[in-house]
Amino acid sequence: MNIQVLYGTETGNAEMLAEDIAAELEAEHEVTATNLSDFDPADFDRGTLYLLVCSTYGDGELPASAQPFAEKMEAEQPDLTGVHFGIFGMGDSEYEETFNGGPATLAELMIARGATQLGERIAHDASGADMAEDLAFPWAEEIVGMASDALGQAA
Ligand SMILES: Cc1cc2nc3c(=O)[nH]c(=O)nc-3n(C[C@H](O)[C@H](O)[C@H](O)COP(=O)(O)O)c2cc1C
Repeated sequence: MNIQVLYGTETGNAEMLAEDIAAELEAEHEVTATNLSDFDPADFDRGTLYLLVCSTYGDGELPASAQPFAEKMEAEQPDLTGVHFGIFGMGDSEYEETFNGGPATLAELMIARGATQLGERIAHDASGADMAEDLAFPWAEEIVGMASDALGQAA
């Protein structure tokens, strides 16, 4: 399966996790990890599974590297019908009111353009007990399993 891990980050945590997820999946799949700041929404491909990994910054906002992507989504208004994605969010529950706000916004942007979300959005808590990769690796495997049905390909 073709998988692209797209990450939005401010200080590098989501980037590191995206690269770890890619390394975990690459034995069985064609996987790339790409910063959202380097990705054009016009390039979404219906035969590729997208795993989005995004943190939260400021006051519940998208991190800096996801902001150009959000602006391009607004400007280009791409039709993402038939595009499948899963989303893993990073945040900190010390920011009670705005916990995991960035990935919530990113998921809304995708769904508003017609993309299909696979599975639930995971909200990792930097103040919680779980390591991000301990949640992210099983999540990625689950989404890949769902995608092999949705994309009509063998995993
Ligand atoms: C200045 C600052 C603001 C933050 N604001 C929020 C927030 O509003 N909501 C939230 O859930 N997490 C917030 N966080 C936590 C980050 O999302 C978390 O530390 C994450 O792991 C950062 O990942 P990154 O390095 O990929 O940007 C904030 C962190 C910092 C340092």
